[in-house]
Amino acid sequence: MQETNLKYYIETWGCQMNEEDSEKLSGMLKNIGYSRTETKEEAGIILYNTCCVRENAENKVFGNLGQLKALKRKNPDLIIGICGCMMQQEGMADKILSTFPYVNIVFGTHNAYKFPEYLNRVKTEGVQIKEIFNKEEEIVEGLPIDRKSDVKAFVTIMYGCNNFCTYCIVPYVRGRERSRKSEDILNEVKELVKAGYKEITLLGQNVNSYGKGLEEDINFAKLLRMINEVEGIERVRFMTSHPKDLTDDVILAIKECDKLCEQIHLPVQSGSNNILKKMNRHYTREYYMELVNKIKKEIPGVSLTTDIIVGFPGETEEDFLETLELVREVGYSAAFTFIYSRRNNTPADMMLNQVDDADKHHRFDRLVKAVNENVIKLNKEFENQVVEVLVEGMSKNDETKYSGRTRNGRLVNFEGENVKIGDLVNVEITRAQPFSLLGKMI
Ligand code: 5AD
Ligand code: SF4
Repeated sequence: MQETNLKYYIETWGCQMNEEDSEKLSGMLKNIGYSRTETKEEAGIILYNTCCVRENAENKVFGNLGQLKALKRKNPDLIIGICGCMMQQEGMADKILSTFPYVNIVFGTHNAYKFPEYLNRVKTEGVQIKEIFNKEEEIVEGLPIDRKSDVKAFVTIMYGCNNFCTYCIVPYVRGRERSRKSEDILNEVKELVKAGYKEITLLGQNVNSYGKGLEEDINFAKLLRMINEVEGIERVRFMTSHPKDLTDDVILAIKECDKLCEQIHLPVQSGSNNILKKMNRHYTREYYMELVNKIKKEIPGVSLTTDIIVGFPGETEEDFLETLELVREVGYSAAFTFIYSRRNNTPADMMLNQVDDADKHHRFDRLVKAVNENVIKLNKEFENQVVEVLVEGMSKNDETKYSGRTRNGRLVNFEGENVKIGDLVNVEITRAQPFSLLGKMI
């Protein structure tokens, strides 16, 4: 009998929530005896965890699936699994199975915890499996998890989104908001500390609505304060905050709690009131700027990062210029910039005045330039300053240097001696580069 190949290859597209889901899928596979490989040719299982937020993420998955045909021909025992947000779209699983009939398992985000069961059925019964749950289930706790880093970890505190921004597919594929019980979250954080983790990032599509629907008397600010009290944790971050829901008590918690890092990801999406309204964002440019100014005043040294979309239906040059102006006014330390991508059955997809591709690209290029100019300017301010860095490993581009981040999220590559991964060290910044800082440990 041929021996089973117990190596798996996993590839992840999309956001941190997907990254964390993949860590759980990895954990489940390791639990049943598999080990990870970074080479597809070596693998007995190839698993793709997909994203559908923009069309290009989907196209990459299609391209990758097409390439697996040759591998499967060479190795008929290879098991190919596809999961994640893309699978939750109506008709997508069938489309995948008819276009790529050599795929063995298709499952969605709500039933990822059942992956080992599906795998077993494929192996023992030789069937093709398509299992997509349309409705979110109870949150499944206690899944094994194989984390990428030994220093910092993601902890999901809530799933789903109720906001229905008109461009966004997430509420349709990730379902309604559900929060984990604070006890489960705190236990996970304590376990992480025991295992040596120093930093956690709390994840949710809209962390500021944490706690709604739970029986306990809790909200996001209270959760932050509880986590701040966990002995041994050094840094706590969170994402994503919807500006309409970021309350004063959260700002106060960051100001008062020493473990909460001075960094807020606050997606603005557009600087034009006209577009914000069509996006269904429930705030105005003025409200957003007031919030930004309050945050800057209350939390000295805070870093603000954001998401911005250009080319939303009906966006005029004037609307776009308002976004550019807002970017300069806020001074983001980083921004994720996106070209609007039409998503099936979302309200924006049905809007009539879609923006021309050339205009979208022209705006995108100007936006990236404005963001980068800002980032470089802000980085310059760090020169000759001493910052606290949590050491994450060696620099990707220069293996003689260590690499880590400041409390407010700047990447620092530095020279040092007797440094261990997970240490908190003081580094004097010698030179600012466009996307990182160079320094020397003192
Ligand atoms: N087109 C472009 N960008 C999008 N985003 C969400 N949906 C779309 C879309 N249809 C962006 C938003 C969001 C981030 C995660 O992805 O900026 O904050
Ligand atoms: Fe999408 Fe808006 Fe929900 Fe974010 S808040 S996941 S952009 S619907």
